[in-house]
Amino acid sequence: MKQRVLFVCLGNICRSPAAEAIFRMYVEREGLGEAFVIDSAGTYGGHSGERSDARMRSAAANRGIPMTHRARQVREEDFEAFDYILAMDDNNYEALFRLAPSRAAQQKIYRFREFLVNHPDWSYIPDPYYEGREGFELVLDLLEDGCRVLLDRLRSEK
Ligand code: 4NP
Repeated sequence: MKQRVLFVCLGNICRSPAAEAIFRMYVEREGLGEAFVIDSAGTYGGHSGERSDARMRSAAANRGIPMTHRARQVREEDFEAFDYILAMDDNNYEALFRLAPSRAAQQKIYRFREFLVNHPDWSYIPDPYYEGREGFELVLDLLEDGCRVLLDRLRSEK
């Protein structure tokens, strides 16, 4: 059975598509591409259909991380289609919790911060949208940390 992972933020143009791209890169590097379904979505649909924010794409490209996602809004069916739904911050978590159609669906929602090991000062992934370049670099640092740990955990569950 494939492990199906959905990353969720607000706009689905900065944090969650970067998390998706990083996690996919780690998975493919380990030759595990067939074992996972990986996607991202936003709780807000206003950017649907757009490519990721150019600042995030550029910062990711500098680290060798390709980003090709088109934004979409999270939907109730995602709770059927995915096993692990990872919220970037508490607002995303609460929006997902309200959208979840059942108790079993709610139990699929995790806070991404649970997987951070090298950033004890961060309890959420900060929205970089109104930040400068350092904001995007920080997000990528946090996402690389958590995606590495997430992959290790999911591999050990197999
Ligand atoms: P993201 O960043 O949630 O990491 O994709 C944002 C992108 C757009 C907006 C907010 C956050 N916005 O309000 O348009």
